[in-house]
Amino acid sequence: MKAVIFDLDGVIADTARFHFIAWQQLAADLGIVIDEAFNEELKGISRSESLERILIHGNQSDRYSEGELAVFANKKNEVYLELISSLSEKDILPGITAFLDELATADIRIALASASRNGPFILDKLGLSDRFETIVDPSGLKAGKPAPDIYLAAAAQLGLNAGDCVGVEDALAGVQAINAANMVSIAVGDAQELAEADHIFSSTALLDLETIQGVWEAAHH
Ligand code: G6P
Ligand code: MG
Repeated sequence: MKAVIFDLDGVIADTARFHFIAWQQLAADLGIVIDEAFNEELKGISRSESLERILIHGNQSDRYSEGELAVFANKKNEVYLELISSLSEKDILPGITAFLDELATADIRIALASASRNGPFILDKLGLSDRFETIVDPSGLKAGKPAPDIYLAAAAQLGLNAGDCVGVEDALAGVQAINAANMVSIAVGDAQELAEADHIFSSTALLDLETIQGVWEAAHH
């Protein structure tokens, strides 16, 4: 195991709730109601595809022009940026800083595979930019999670094989992306929802290198 590739929202930082609030507000403007359960299906999904899913959910797909869709997506992002404008170190999820330290000490490389175009900005706000050797630019990818593209791009940027990498995710689409990339998948969150992962921690606070190395070794022997 040579690298750990991280998702951002819901793994590194507690930003998933801000995505939800911003989408809920945009949906309400369009007369569409979304709840927390529906929001689970948006985790890990790009801005434009999330919008598409919300419109389908509200029976409004095919109603708007490309231009209108772009305006809606921008509007959501403006609300989101406002919500995250005061992000700081204190918004790093529990245990993450210690886990990043543990990886660095063990010479395990660290990359980011977030579908968010705001990823670099958020890492900067959290004071974590220096910890990440490489960040995948999601705008250049053919297919979003659950497709493996973003994890494969992270491995390529590190110059590693997928088999040398482990991915960490809080959403089902993300776990599926890691699995499709043939990497070991580590999930943080609900054991039932994320059952497809190779290993699940109920909280980021419980992430630990020894356990993850054990899971990696079991998968590779
Ligand atoms: C992550 C989040 C999604 C979000 C996506 C795009 O995958 O889990 O909720 O829609 O990033 O984020 P962005 O900041 O580019 O709108
Ligand atoms: Mg996530």
